[in-house]
Amino acid sequence: MSRVIAIANQKGGVGKTTTAINLGAGLAVAEQRTLIVDMDPQGNATSGLGFDKNSLERSVYDVLVDGTPVQDSILTHVHFPFLDLLPSSQDLVGALSLSRLRSATSSRATSILRIQATAVLARARLRR
Ligand SMILES: Nc1ncnc2c1ncn2[C@@H]1O[C@H](COP(=O)(O)OP(=O)(O)OP(=O)(O)O)[C@@H](O)[C@H]1O
Ligand SMILES: [Mg+2]
Repeated sequence: MSRVIAIANQKGGVGKTTTAINLGAGLAVAEQRTLIVDMDPQGNATSGLGFDKNSLERSVYDVLVDGTPVQDSILTHVHFPFLDLLPSSQDLVGALSLSRLRSATSSRATSILRIQATAVLARARLRR
């Protein structure tokens, strides 16, 4: 059984990323394995979780474009034991492809938050 939550708004700067970060943290505190996927080239979820997006070795870009195994790019136990992050990269501009990411991450977590440039999709899959 799963539940899907979408956070989306066409307008910029209205709190989509902030909501995704806090929802992700809340789910993790509730001991739901949660993976935040930062699909925004701005990398605000990545920096908001305390990482310097310019000094990361790997990002979601490597998964989408270079075929790097997703587990090699995921940062685990981000602030909480149940919270993981697949960080963003500026290289994502022009490389957005959700379908490949969906299959690459589906077995990684009970909760997946996917963040896009113009909308944040918070996808919470809560297994019972
Ligand atoms: N509930 C809130 N109260 C006050 N300020 C907030 C709140 N939520 C977010 N903000 C602030 O609003 C600004 C924009 O938030 P955020 O980056 O989450 O928006 P966004 O919708 O993801 O933007 P973008 O469209 O650029 O991706 C940030 O400075 C953030 O700190
Ligand atoms: Mg945002």
